Amino acid sequence: MAAAEVGDDVYAEDPTTNTLEERVAELFGHEAALFTPTGSLGNVLAVRSLVQPGQEVLCESRAHIARAELGAHGAFLGVTMRTWIHERGQIDLPMIQRLFAPDMGPFFVPTAAISVENTHNFAGGAVLPIEDLVALKSYAESVGAQVHLDGARIWNAHVATGTSLKEYGAIADVMSVCLSKGLGAPIGSLLVGSRDTVAEARVWRKRFGGGMRQTGMLAAAGLHALEHHVDRLADDHAHAHILADACGVDPDLVDTNIVVVERDDAAAVVRQAAEAGVRIATVGPTTVRMVTHLGVDREQTERAAGIVSGILGA
Ligand SMILES: Cc1ncc(COP(=O)(O)O)c(C=O)c1O
Repeated sequence: MAAAEVGDDVYAEDPTTNTLEERVAELFGHEAALFTPTGSLGNVLAVRSLVQPGQEVLCESRAHIARAELGAHGAFLGVTMRTWIHERGQIDLPMIQRLFAPDMGPFFVPTAAISVENTHNFAGGAVLPIEDLVALKSYAESVGAQVHLDGARIWNAHVATGTSLKEYGAIADVMSVCLSKGLGAPIGSLLVGSRDTVAEARVWRKRFGGGMRQTGMLAAAGLHALEHHVDRLADDHAHAHILADACGVDPDLVDTNIVVVERDDAAAVVRQAAEAGVRIATVGPTTVRMVTHLGVDREQTERAAGIVSGILGA
């Protein structure tokens, strides 16, 4: 990072950031990409590119854009959401078809886009099968809707399934991906899409205060992560199974690096784990979430699994 060649990224003159953007666009088979400080900003810029003020985007009820971006899409974009519910965060195409209403006259919010999240964070890192994504894209094309893919953890889906990044890229009109989750870079996400979409997003990134100057040092970390930290996600997935096994979680519910446990006393479980030196979190009043990552090795995972399973009485 310290050795990165830098320039002013607001003027698109940071060579390391430009390299990262080109590489990520190419990985997903899209024309262009744009570095953003956060995945949330990437999602806001992506949804903005597809949905006009007063229109709606459909998504699953626990999607990050619906639950964890603090209403940004309503507050900044004037966009509303309607949601379908799926226990595992999956695509429910029949329900999407029932919700989809692009033009019901001047009485109803027009649907402009459908957003999906792969892997699905609050559904426990669940993978969306490529067949379902392809079917969704084909339906969306047939009705003139656009598809946003929140691919904050698309790398985990890729490693868990062997589905190529290009296949995932092909089902999205615009996507956002994060370097700062399992890939381990300290900061950074990218919006990925057409040249025009990215050019417009560059303007809006600045408008939202997200234009940064010498981002090359951050982009360098991202390039390193792409080179060295993708394949190793398989270790995180194996570690998640160690946790799941110890905590009595059905292994079929652990697709990637997230393990979810339903507990009425979720907050107390998290507090006791913290006191014992294991940092886990609640992601709902009764939901405990544990995430494995490159900062935790197998031995540490086994130790954490012993501590958490003791607290859970598993
Ligand atoms: C699925 C998903 N999308 C987007 C984000 C937003 O990323 P950031 O925290 O960088 O804003 C997250 C963060 O956890 C996420 O899980």
